[in-house]
Order: sequence, then C-alpha cells, then structure tokens
Amino acid sequence: MTQSNSGAFTLTNKTTGDSWDLPVIDGSLGPSVIDVRKLYGQTGHFTFDPGFTSTGSCESALTFIDGDKGVLLHRGYSIEDLAEHSDFLDVAYLLIYGELPNKAEKANFDRDVTYHTMVHEQMMNFFRGFRRDAHPMAIMCGVVGAMSAFYHDSTDIHDEHQRMVATFRLIAKMPTIAAMAYKYSIGQPFNYPKNNLSYAENFLDMTFRVPAEEYKMSPTIARAMDRIFILHADHEQNASTSTVRLASSSGANPFACIAAGVACLWGPAHGGANEAVLNMLMEIGHKDNIPEYLEKAKDKNDPFRLMGFGHRVYKNYDPRAKVMQKSCYEVLEELDLKDPLLDLAMELERIALEDPYFVEKKLFPNVDFYSGIVLKALGFPTSMFTVLFAVARTVGWVAQWKEQIEDPTLKIGRPRQLYTGPEQRDYVPLGKRS
Ligand code: SDX
Repeated sequence: MTQSNSGAFTLTNKTTGDSWDLPVIDGSLGPSVIDVRKLYGQTGHFTFDPGFTSTGSCESALTFIDGDKGVLLHRGYSIEDLAEHSDFLDVAYLLIYGELPNKAEKANFDRDVTYHTMVHEQMMNFFRGFRRDAHPMAIMCGVVGAMSAFYHDSTDIHDEHQRMVATFRLIAKMPTIAAMAYKYSIGQPFNYPKNNLSYAENFLDMTFRVPAEEYKMSPTIARAMDRIFILHADHEQNASTSTVRLASSSGANPFACIAAGVACLWGPAHGGANEAVLNMLMEIGHKDNIPEYLEKAKDKNDPFRLMGFGHRVYKNYDPRAKVMQKSCYEVLEELDLKDPLLDLAMELERIALEDPYFVEKKLFPNVDFYSGIVLKALGFPTSMFTVLFAVARTVGWVAQWKEQIEDPTLKIGRPRQLYTGPEQRDYVPLGKRS
C-alpha cells in the first residue's frame, strides 16, 4: 500500500466542530481507499456498510476487476488471454505464486497436483452416510469439511510445508470428491483418478466413466471444461472468498475454511445462480413468455429476479460471460446439439439488454448466464453446476487464503454493528410474565 498523493479526507462533526484527517491509500489499479482503521478510536463512531458495497476488506494482488469497463485481470493478465492461451493449472500457479510458470515449473506443479488426486480410501464410507438424493452441494459441504479429519498432518497453518501440502491436496482432491458426489447421487461406482490425464480430462473421466466401458475423451469437450474452470477460478473478494478469508482469520485449518466457502457459494445469489438460471429458463419455457418474466423481475413486490443477470461489481458485460457464450457454441457444435434453451437465453438477453430497467440499472449477463447451458450440454445435471463452480473456485479460495495467511498484519475479522435492540431492562421472573 502506498500513501496517496491525492492527500487525505477530512471528516468534520458539524455539531461539535471536531474534525479528523483520514488518509487515502492508493493501490496499483482501481479506486483508492480511505483508511478508517483509526476512526472508532478517534471518533467513537463505526462506519456502516451492510453488504460491504463501499468497503475494501483487505489488500490483495491476485485479481482486479474494473466493473465499468468489464475488465478482469489475474495478476495483471486478462481473463480473455488466460482463457485462450492457458490451461487451468497454469492459472492456478499464476494465482498462487504470482507469475505464469515456465516449462519446468509447470511440469512440477502439474505432477504435484496429479499425485494428490486420490482421496483417503476411508472417505468412501463417509459418502455412505448421505441419502442418494442428497444435493451434491450438501455432500461437498460435508466431505470437504471432513478432509480436516483425514488430512490432519496438513492443518497447521503456521507450518509453510503443511500449508503447501494442504494447497495441493485441496486443488487436487476437489475434482475427485465432486465426481464421487455425482456418482453417489446416481448410484454408480466411484472412479479412481488416472495420472496420465490432465486436470479437466481426469474430472470428466471420473465423472462419466462406467465400469462397462472406457470414457471416450473429446479434446473439444475437455478444453471447454478446462476453460470453464479458468473462468470460475477467482474473482476478488466475492461472498465465498470473503467467507474463506474470515474463517481463516480465526486460525481455522484450510479444509474447514474451504468448506465454509463451499457453503457460502451454494446460495442462488452467488454460485447457485448457474443452477437457478437453467431452472428459470425451463420455467420461462418459450420466448413468448419473456415479457411476463421481465415484468416480474422489475416488480419490487415480486421476489423473482432475472438469474444470471446483474452483478455487484460489473456494471458492464461480465467478460467471463462472453467467453462462456463462445464455449457454449463450440460444445453444442461438437456434440451436434441444438438446445432450445440456448435460443431462449439469447432472446432473453437481447430483449433484456434493450429494456430501460436493465439498461438504467446496468444489469448485464454475468458468468452464470451461459454456464448452465454449457454444463447441461456436457451432460451434468443442474444439481452439479455449483459443485463445478466450487471445484474451480477452490484455486481462488486457496490462493486468497495463502495471501492472507502470509500477511504479517493479519488480524481476526470482527465487524461491529449499529445496535437497535432494547436498552438494558430489569429481569422478569417466569411467574410475572404476561
Ligand atoms: C456470482 O461477487 C462476485 O464476484 C460473484 C461472482 C464470482 O465470480 O464470485 O461473480 C459469481 O455470484 C455472479 C452473480 C450470480 N447471481 C445472479 O445471477 C443472481 C441474480 N443477480 C442478482 O441477485 C444481483 O444482481 C446480485 C446479487 C448478483 C448483485 O446484487 P447487488 O449488487 O446487491 O445489487 P442489488 O441487489 O442492490 O441490485 C441493484 C438494483 C436493485 O434494484 P433497486 O433496489 O436499486 O431498485 O438492481 C436490481 C435490484 O432489484 N437487480 C435486479 C437484478 N439484479 C439486481 N433486478 C432484476 N433481476 C436481477 N437479476
């Protein structure tokens, strides 16, 4: 952080005339911040920002979003370039270590991830405790949290080696656990990973292979899967990443922190939106019904929102949505599929982007708008959509967790509040209560 050359802000209490200087700190890109760390000590007042719409929670060098321009950078590289030229583990290395790996670094990193993809054999029994119809995200919450019980030799966050082992275990085992969650939900046997496959190939193989025959790998499908992972890898201080950071600030072990992130991601306003988009498109059913649903989305008394539209940060097109749309076409063409839901989605997008409500509120398609259609075309049930998001976002969660753990100024996160409850009052014994 560097003290701003744009000076400071002065806060003045108009009643008492007291005033305080609040320093401004510049980052390398994007808005500067007003440093309010001493505000309560100086003024006896808290800031108030439910939903953190104007609050920077930390300093980070991983990801930068320019919401007005629709720009997403990971360590300075655009998401478009990374999606076009990198693979997912390339991006994982970049987020974790800060630079794109050279050939030797890439080979070592890929190998280290590959050789951590198996899970403890006893974890399979853990799955048996779930009903077959359990939502795969419920299974992910449980099994990822249970990793703390199986891998307690990599839970000491103060041990750099254990942090590194936990990093590899989480990135490597999430696809295995996700594929197991899917297999369990459809009553098929679990598959072991194969070390000769890439990250995305391994996930597709573990998910769709059956004992009766080998899974026929399509390079186009594998590339699309890998690209979908890249698009979901990290996204600044979103709700689930902030959850991971807050959990980590208490010193919780990495598996517990990532499990907290999985739980938060499940919400339909966040990572659950891709599943919600597909359910919404199926509910709309036909383009003739679009106007009715757009009116519902605009009606303040109607809880319905246009899923896959809008974003806290993007007030322009989410750059990931454009790449996802391109993947959509590639996958449907490769599979020679015609999905009427894609046509419906395109028509919904066209109409919404011409509607004054969506234009004025700068509501554009986000990453979730097209992802559901691609994932459905790849053969995943809607209940697995957020699971895939969690697999990819584990890289971002782990990289953000590492960045925070290594920050010597780290303090436990403990927000305050505006209290609006009753003032202190005398106790009323049970016999005297009305
Ligand atoms: C992700 O944070 C991240 O980076 C998340 C993510 C990541 O990679 O981690 O990008 C992934 O979560 C993408 C978002 C997926 N969610 C959805 O698609 C669900 C639908 N979208 C909305 O729920 C909403 O847009 C949010 C939650 C995404 C953002 O909500 P905000 O920033 O809190 O905005 P808001 O709710 O204050 O909305 C501002 C206005 C409101 O109207 P007013 O009260 O000002 O009159 O826009 C309206 C909202 O009612 N609005 C919508 C809308 N989204 C916002 N109206 C209809 N349909 C929508 N989708």
